[in-house]
Amino acid sequence: MKYVIGIDLGTSAVKILLVNQKGEVTNEVSKSYPLIIEKSGYSEQDPEEWVKSTLEGLTELIQQFDGEVKDIDGISFSGQMHGLVLMDGNGRVLRNAILWNDTRTTRQCREIYDTVGRDRLLDITKNPALEGFTLPKILWVKENEPELFSSARLFLLPKDYLRFRLTGNIHMEYSDAAGTLLLNEAEREWSEEILELFNLSHDFCPPLVDSHDFVGTLKPEHAEITGLPENVKVFAGGADNACGAIGSGILSEGKTLCSIGTSGVVLSYEERSDLDFDGKVHYFNHCEENAYYTMGVTLAAGYSLSWYKDTFAKEETFEEFLNGIEEVPAGSNGLLFTPYIVGERTPHADSTIRGSFIGMDASHGRAHFSRAVLEGITFSLNESIELFRSSGKTVDSIISIGGGAKNETWLQMQADIFNAKIEKLSSEQGPGMGAAMLAAYGTGWYSSLKECADKFLQTSKTYHPIPENVENYKKVFAAYQQIYHMTKEMNEQLREFRK
Ligand code: XUL
Repeated sequence: MKYVIGIDLGTSAVKILLVNQKGEVTNEVSKSYPLIIEKSGYSEQDPEEWVKSTLEGLTELIQQFDGEVKDIDGISFSGQMHGLVLMDGNGRVLRNAILWNDTRTTRQCREIYDTVGRDRLLDITKNPALEGFTLPKILWVKENEPELFSSARLFLLPKDYLRFRLTGNIHMEYSDAAGTLLLNEAEREWSEEILELFNLSHDFCPPLVDSHDFVGTLKPEHAEITGLPENVKVFAGGADNACGAIGSGILSEGKTLCSIGTSGVVLSYEERSDLDFDGKVHYFNHCEENAYYTMGVTLAAGYSLSWYKDTFAKEETFEEFLNGIEEVPAGSNGLLFTPYIVGERTPHADSTIRGSFIGMDASHGRAHFSRAVLEGITFSLNESIELFRSSGKTVDSIISIGGGAKNETWLQMQADIFNAKIEKLSSEQGPGMGAAMLAAYGTGWYSSLKECADKFLQTSKTYHPIPENVENYKKVFAAYQQIYHMTKEMNEQLREFRK
């Protein structure tokens, strides 16, 4: 039996999967690392932690493996998107990586609009200037840390940096490059126009490759530490959302994914690069050559739940913590939560907004609060689904992965709030599986990602909307949608008190 390895470099942990030719996960290791939050709105990580945790994880994976290491054919990656890793001319990292959920760059986003023009930016990159994307972070460092920036020669994204450290070779692939605001998405090349406008040289951007491209082998010292063969082939990989989509079979028009990790996304496959969403949803290159996807993002989806649990019941497991929510009626007896604890992206690109509990009543107990948190996260994702629907798309069947697919009540809640059939996969592994599939395709096991998905993936259970809940949720959702507008100004006033 042959194997491939999928490495998902996430925001809270790196998850490594060993997958056999039948698509079965035979070993799995996860190593977590911290976020560095120096002040409200900041979110950084030390890239060295990614390398250390991945090497430890790979070593453990190989120690537990009872097959022949020579049967491991390939490795590929999935990575948290947009994070800025700045490097000097000798391949050394110049500062902590500034991550996708860091929102310090509102000023730089305005500067991008003023310099490029909103319409031209949308023409070239298909996306608006959002705090999370990479170019605003580059400009922030340039303006706030000029001395450090003067030594910068190249930027990489998190998983591309990790791959560089493992192989010694520098590349970036299209699905992640699409989240930088420096890529001409339709032409699949760095935009000379945008680079020039910001005085960045072409060499500042790494060479571009496809997600399934072979990009090298492990450095001998890493092969030795981990026990992997030196000739194991390394393939470029993809952005975590694109990999989550591949790992869920979102590889043809009409397929929609709901993925809840630290962030939450609703994503839909697109064949074309020339649709016009006026920047209301993200529009990125997929990992499949010449395919795209559109996506709405809730900045703190799983993060709202883990923040809430860790703040009020750190010792409990998620299972214990969510016990009892199934007995609370849809709508949590009038308690509403907005998951804006680090600001929001879709549909309100707003780094200043913060979350609320609205409608607290003396009769509410803990289970009402827990259910309201899940409902708030799901309502936020529903705003993206509504955007898709209003652009003419039919969304009647959604594959759910990540945290939202781990709890039966939450899966039914998604069916009821989204008013769509929800499908759960039999062995749901999210982005790590997408990464493994890129290695499987890259190494030649299959002639296409679709063929690989047909072999690897199966649906295990379907949740249908319950009409009574759908009706209730429609009314509660209408109230939820008002909270943003009603709390916006108040949050602007409260901003100065955030440290
Ligand atoms: C997408 C985004 C997040 C990260 C999470 O635009 O910023 O979903 O990719 O890792």
